Amino acid sequence: MKVIAEMDEMVRFSEKLRCEGQTIAFVPTMGFLHEGHLALMADGQKKADHLVVSIFVNPAQFGPNEDFSTYPRAMDQDLEKCRNIGATAVFTPAAEDMYPAGHETYVVLEKLPFHLCGLSRPVFFKGVATVVTKLFNIVRPHVALFGEKDFQQLAVIRQLVQDLCFDIEITGVPIVREPDGLAMSSRNKYLTPKQRPHALLLHRSLAAAQKMVTDGETDASRIVALARDVLTSCPDIRVDYVSICDPGTLDEVAVIEDAALMAIAVWLGKTRLIDNQMLVQTNRM
Ligand code: PAJ
Repeated sequence: MKVIAEMDEMVRFSEKLRCEGQTIAFVPTMGFLHEGHLALMADGQKKADHLVVSIFVNPAQFGPNEDFSTYPRAMDQDLEKCRNIGATAVFTPAAEDMYPAGHETYVVLEKLPFHLCGLSRPVFFKGVATVVTKLFNIVRPHVALFGEKDFQQLAVIRQLVQDLCFDIEITGVPIVREPDGLAMSSRNKYLTPKQRPHALLLHRSLAAAQKMVTDGETDASRIVALARDVLTSCPDIRVDYVSICDPGTLDEVAVIEDAALMAIAVWLGKTRLIDNQMLVQTNRM
């Protein structure tokens, strides 16, 4: 497995594979890899001849009061995981190379960021869209994989690929959870042993919402109210949003017809956690 820090070398490496007629699947990450990341990588390996992973904690997607400096990092263990899964290359650029002095071009979407996480994290999607655009230009993949855990991020990437005419197939991968239901996340590391059981309330509130839908409820506001009650049964939880929305536009819906996305973000102490699930009217199936 090649570990490549230089942008030029990554471009040359990918171009060589492309000239040989080989295909590349790409999984961008910020490292501190867990089973969720590994699921994306395993899927990528099925979709192309070579798997390229990037590990880069992208400063541009963190707000001034967010956790850029404390974001968990474990490069040696991450490289070992990539090696074990059989990645062809791992790209580990330096922040000074990705954003040199004088860098001034950013990728900004007009609508999708004004929903869900974008409302409380105003620079987040600008940072994500910019870094992913740059990574696509450097790694030049045929396929790129993103987790449905970050549902809005996946929507943003699909939109920018379409709008900026990238010839890249985007694949969404279902959420990988801990055995007890907590969605895996690098940020789960921040949770104290006392907080960890409370983190389950996200998954529980989604399950309670689905049960209401299965029992025939279609009024989104009642389902949101129940989910908020489940979450705030823990005094340490502060709800950022609970939204039932159209999975394409992310616009909130008042009535659930067939299927809708339920997305949640909370603060548990100082840790921001997100989760989501499609609410499906199973009784209509
Ligand atoms: P990061 O949080 O490291 O996640 C990298 C990829 O793994 C994302 O596509 C994310 O949705 C996916 N992922 C994380 N947890 C998952 C889980 N439990 N199940 C399935 N997939 C999961 O997302 C980012 O990094 C960054 O914003 C990035 C896209 C790399 C741009 O900097």
